[in-house]
Order: sequence, then C-alpha cells, then structure tokens
Amino acid sequence: MKFNLLMAGLLSGAALMTTTALPTLAVELHFVSGSTGDDLAFYAEEFKKFTASTGDTVTIVPMPSSTTDQFAQYKLWLAAGNSDIDVYQTDVIWAPQLADQFVDLTAAAKDVVKDHFPSIVASQTVNGKLVALPAFTDAGVLYYRKDLLAKYKQPVPKTWDEMAKTAKIVQDGERAAGNKDIWGYVFQGNAYEGLTCDALEWVKSYGGGQIVEPDGSISINNPKAVAAIEQAKTWINTISPPGVLAYQEEESRGVWQTGNAVFMRNWPYAYSLGNGADSKVKGLFDVSALPSGPGGTPAATLGGWNIAVSKYSKNPDAAIKLALFISSTEFQKDRAVTRSALPTIAALYDDPDVVKAQPIVPNMKNAFLNAVARPSRGAGIKYNEVSSDFWSAVHDTLSGNGSAAANLETLEAKLTELKGAGW
Ligand code: GLC
Repeated sequence: MKFNLLMAGLLSGAALMTTTALPTLAVELHFVSGSTGDDLAFYAEEFKKFTASTGDTVTIVPMPSSTTDQFAQYKLWLAAGNSDIDVYQTDVIWAPQLADQFVDLTAAAKDVVKDHFPSIVASQTVNGKLVALPAFTDAGVLYYRKDLLAKYKQPVPKTWDEMAKTAKIVQDGERAAGNKDIWGYVFQGNAYEGLTCDALEWVKSYGGGQIVEPDGSISINNPKAVAAIEQAKTWINTISPPGVLAYQEEESRGVWQTGNAVFMRNWPYAYSLGNGADSKVKGLFDVSALPSGPGGTPAATLGGWNIAVSKYSKNPDAAIKLALFISSTEFQKDRAVTRSALPTIAALYDDPDVVKAQPIVPNMKNAFLNAVARPSRGAGIKYNEVSSDFWSAVHDTLSGNGSAAANLETLEAKLTELKGAGW
C-alpha cells in the first residue's frame, strides 16, 4: 500500500508536468470466495494479470467451500456494512436475498452483457438491478468409471434403479476381488445447500416438481417426491457409505479420486481434477446425464457463480473493473480450459481450445440450458429458509428419522407458514 501511494505520488507529480488529468491511485482490493478444488490458486494466478494491467492489487479472502457457510458469513458482514471486502463471489441463488447490499452493475456491463446467456443475466437481475456479473455456470452430472462398467459388462445407467443395481454388482465384485474400500455411489448428503441440489434432481427426475413451483405454489408433498426420497434412502449403507450423510462436494470427490467409487454425482469442476496427475481415476471415467425416476426424465440442478461489488466498498470503480475482469471472455476461457468450468458466454462452447482441453464443456451445454432452477426466485428473500427446511427433511429421511411421507408433510406445513400471505 505504501509503495502504491508512493508510486502514485511520483506518477501524479510527473503527470502534472505534462497533462492536467490526475492518474488514479493504485488500490488494494479484497476479493472473497469459497474454496473448492484449487479455485483460489487459479484466482491468484489470474489476478497477477489484473495487477499488471491496472496496477491494483487483489487480496483473496478464502472461505470454506460450503455455499451455506459462505452465505451465513456474508449476510453478517453485509448487514454490518463491512467495507473490508470489495468483491464477492456469489452463488446463483443469492441475488434476490442480497440485492440491496450490492452495486448495480447495469451501466458498467452494458457493452458485455449481451455476450452472456440471457437466462443467467436474468437470474442476477432483481427489480431491474444487475446484482452480479456471471462468472461460470454449473449443472449436476453423473460420473462413472468406464473401466469398471466394461469389466462387469454394464451399460451406463439411465434410471436410478439401474444405477443402484450396477453400483451393487460392481461394488460386490470389486470387494470380493480385494478392494474392501470401494462403494457404489457417492453424492452430497450433508445437511446443506448441496443436498437441496441433489434431492431436487431426484424429485424432479421422478416428475415430483421443484419444491416451490414458478407460480409460488408449494408442491413438494406429493407421492412422486416421496418415492424419490425413499429410493435415495435405500442407498445409504448399501451402495453409499454411511459417511455420505456428512459429504459435501469435496468429500465425494475425495472418495472418487482415490478410486473408491463406481459412480459419483458432482459438478463439472470434478472433471479436470479427476483427470489431474495425482488422480487415481485419470482417464478411467466419463460423465453422463443423471439417471431418471420411473417414467420421468433426467434432471440436473442449475448452479453457478457470479461476481458482485459491495456497496460498502471504498473503491467501487476499481472493484467494478475486477468484477468485469473475472466475468470476461478471456478469464472464462482460462477457467474452462484449466478447470472444466462451464462458461456463461455461449461462444466459448465452440472455442477449439476449450473443446480440446475439456470435452465435458461442449457436451454440457444442453444439460445446463435445460437444468432445473432452485426456487430462489419464487421464494425471494425467504429462499434460504425454504432450502434449509427442505434439506433438513431430506437429511432426516436419509438418516432414518421419519419416513419421507411424514417428513414431506411436515415440510409442506412449515413452508405454508413461511409463505404466509405470499413469498
Ligand atoms: C455448486 C453450485 C452452486 C450450489 C452449490 C451447492 O457450487 O454451483 O450453485 O449452490 O454447488 O453445494
């Protein structure tokens, strides 16, 4: 900081001799983001380019990878008017809840907003205010071990039933052959937002709706949703380790990457990491759409992350530049090529470097475009409570605390009370 001020002082002195425009002082920005995989190392590398072109430095404030934990912390900071953080990486579901705390980016992004998928821009627009700029998008996907399916002559499963049967066949066979640690299926079973994502996929793929429908009606208490969650319960301790009830994305990936799972539900980021030099499953796996329920169609939950500027930032202009930088085509291309992240810019899905480095990216375009959104728009500022009531009901069921039917009935009553006269 001292150095920057000194430099700026020297520069402004020099500038005064030649021009009347005063150069702006270099600033130190603080950027906060959850850490999943090696995201933060990636950010640190990219920010060197930002500093080289603007002179502004960026300090990364690391957070846990759980979006639920991040949200709780950010709400506290923002409610207290914290000016220490300038730029936030925000989950796609947060825009309506945090809209008042962030700067409107409409004017700053007017030349680039057309490059991004309109649905994502719409998800970040609240009452005409552009709350955050898209950074990357996400959709749930099934990872499977090509080598093990070939060994046991099993096809890639299309239904949850097939998935569970194949998982059991391969798990039993591999254990008998000496791999005592292998499991059939790992997913995100912890009581947090990730379980909302996974369970929404089960329910939707059974034709059981999306918890709260776009028209605001509460649909979750229905027989298809009950059947979907009861089916997931049968996996616990048969094809899924009991510990899965505490797994988030990274724990699932840990089991998967040590070669101890036949199938995994995760987001695209696990693709590049699974093919990394230190991964035991490098080159041994592929991805497909998640399975569906009886008579249903596959469903992937829509995820994704965006970049917002705090309205309490003392350096909003520099912070907006940083947000534009992270959202830019160049940055998104680097993230797609090295991290298999799905761009929010349509043109990048056909980019030859992206296609070559991470074939999952072009293959995921349709999955993402058809992904099911969580009811964060319908439930507005009450979304976090809707989601936590939902994941609690699901987690209770998976843990053996009450049947899905009883837990969804209680959930419906809670959501009805929460909704009150309207969302
Ligand atoms: C991924 C998704 C995000 C979601 C989270 C749940 O990071 O991109 O939208 O909320 O997973 O764990």
